[in-house]
Amino acid sequence: MGRRRACLIFACLCAAAMAGLAPNIARAESGGLAATPPMGWNDWYSTYCGVSAGLVEQTAQTMVNDGMKAAGYQYVNIDDCWMAPTRDSAGNLVADPVRFPAGIAAVAAYVHGLGLKLGIYEDAGTTTCAHYPGSYGHEAQDAATFAAWGVDYVKYDRCNIPFGDFPGESPEQAQQTLYARMSNALRATGRPIVFSMCNPDPGDVPWEWSAPIANLWRTTTDIEDNYGSMLFNFEGTVDLSAAAGPGSWNDPDLLQIGNGGSSLLEYRTEFSLWAELAAPLIASTNITTLTPAELAIYENADVIAVDQDPLGRQGVAVSRAGGLWVLTKPLAGGDRSVVLFNSTNTAARIATTAAAVGLPGGQGYRLQDLWSGEITQSAGAISAFVPGHGVAMYRISTMNRELARWIAPHTVLSLSSAAPELLAGRSTIVRETFADDGVNPVKHVKLYFRVAPGWHLKRLGKARAKLVNAGHRFSVDFRVTSPAGSPPFALGALAGAVSYDPPDSRRTASATLDERVFAAVPHPFETANTTGYDGAFGAKAGGLAISARGGGVFQPVNAPPIDSYAAIYEPQRAGTQTSVQVTITSDPAGGPAGGAGLIERNAMSAPAGSPAAVALFVSGSGQLIMSWNATGGQDVDSRFVLPSVYVHVPVTLRLVRSGSTYTGYYSPDRGVTFLPVDAVTVAAAASAGDQDVGVFHASGLPTWTTTATFTGLSVS
Ligand code: GLA
Repeated sequence: MGRRRACLIFACLCAAAMAGLAPNIARAESGGLAATPPMGWNDWYSTYCGVSAGLVEQTAQTMVNDGMKAAGYQYVNIDDCWMAPTRDSAGNLVADPVRFPAGIAAVAAYVHGLGLKLGIYEDAGTTTCAHYPGSYGHEAQDAATFAAWGVDYVKYDRCNIPFGDFPGESPEQAQQTLYARMSNALRATGRPIVFSMCNPDPGDVPWEWSAPIANLWRTTTDIEDNYGSMLFNFEGTVDLSAAAGPGSWNDPDLLQIGNGGSSLLEYRTEFSLWAELAAPLIASTNITTLTPAELAIYENADVIAVDQDPLGRQGVAVSRAGGLWVLTKPLAGGDRSVVLFNSTNTAARIATTAAAVGLPGGQGYRLQDLWSGEITQSAGAISAFVPGHGVAMYRISTMNRELARWIAPHTVLSLSSAAPELLAGRSTIVRETFADDGVNPVKHVKLYFRVAPGWHLKRLGKARAKLVNAGHRFSVDFRVTSPAGSPPFALGALAGAVSYDPPDSRRTASATLDERVFAAVPHPFETANTTGYDGAFGAKAGGLAISARGGGVFQPVNAPPIDSYAAIYEPQRAGTQTSVQVTITSDPAGGPAGGAGLIERNAMSAPAGSPAAVALFVSGSGQLIMSWNATGGQDVDSRFVLPSVYVHVPVTLRLVRSGSTYTGYYSPDRGVTFLPVDAVTVAAAASAGDQDVGVFHASGLPTWTTTATFTGLSVS
């Protein structure tokens, strides 16, 4: 619901340029408000418009009972839809009489009685995003109402602003005017109220002008409960550290931990990255049904301490090559929080040094792993073997090198494949490496290696070393051969292990790597890749797999068209009266434009020389989209998103061509019933004669490779 509205908003706001906004970063007189990033709860992503006094009070009580309050979560925030549809006769806001029968002041009193604080939602326009009364023209009155009710936090949105009232101003300038108006109105009440701006429109730069008026501002579009969306919002916030500090914070949006769309590993990553970015930690989930494992993420005191560090500095990226991120955040007292984040889908060693993350040289270093609790020491190398989508997070302090000898050395076992994407039946070399990052040597190192059933393995060197010196590594290579009879796409588990003697006790460690295996694509299929990055393709027994980066086949609002995808197709198979159908069995795309689906064009592999025709696909967030070329230019220039529909795989798509008209259908029940998406007319030049037809995939993010799978492609 929020996503849809946000899209509509983009359409009107992005149309105008935001010229003339001078960067003006001066910190707000925050009076100690939000001296560290706000922590709390917001109902939006668990209830959308279902919020009620009962839910808010039950959540607050649960936060006391389950330890979240003690862990630092303070704000209990009501999002959109809390209001009655109209103001009262005096123009005052009124709470929905059914869902808030005793009004907001009563809820505030309840929440305050538990030692927590209450937040509320409003909007700078005439109505909120969900079309309840907005504060436009009522700013002082509404601020006074909130203060009188005992509200401690206001999230202020930017839907439905009458931009016609701001001639000569860009939408962002009008927002600036209106946000300053509400900021002043809240201050004039004399009640300390955290002011949270919600204005995440692409192209806008609130971080350049909001610090004097707000305590936090959104940096990115509405988050979704999937890894690609989390990565998109992280990447949109990570380079904005200059704007953040006590009293004013970048907000990459609400935490999704507990909503079920991501793995625990991915939720741990979200929490770690938000803490490293000094982002608000606002849980937008049903707190009352969190599992112990989810709650343990929210209550990790060491990670929270990084977020809430009194220095108030946002972490910065030291390196990011190949999607392997090293982030460092200076902490009060001189420690550093270091996050090694593997944004890719394949486990990888990520390495940096104490000097590179800003620690003074010539010392020993104490590493506290903030997820396992383990304490190790290093002579200066900082590295870890990190699973795809995962993080290693350390608090690092300097320590006397001699004393460091008494702590276990930081050692890392890692695996790397010369060809992470392999054709079935082919071989590659996998290197297993044991590194001693500590200040003292380790002895009697023995490496082990195992492959999944059906694989062949040959060791190419010695697997034992009597001694690995401090700061040194020991490696052995293995030749591995994948099974010839693999499915279109399979993950082959390669597992390494090590045993060794540190000075005190014998230690072991293990590491696993998923080798990605694709069955070669047979005739009559061909493959095309227009992304500029490596892709991989598999086909076997009716199944198809495409691994690719790229933006997609898409017409982003107010941005140049994207024509960046990888495809498996049959050349010139679609005549002027042809129906093509496929079932998408996995579509892990992220970002606003990634997806998987059907595509037809005159010549699939030569986009520069053949105009794109039409694509029917499912986006990473489960929306059904048609993109097409209505004007005859090189790229798609039109798109249609089926409103109010979100699908989960498997979903079957059918594209029926009749000359230049293409009608898209989808089936949520594997082809039993088909529902229409849209019928579109493609320019004659882009739909001439027979066409190439097939399936395509794009991850949606240029930093990220994902694999989509399909079955049952048929052309008739
Ligand atoms: C917008 C905001 C969301 C949420 C909804 C409520 O989409 O970005 O965070 O507040 O509005 O309608």
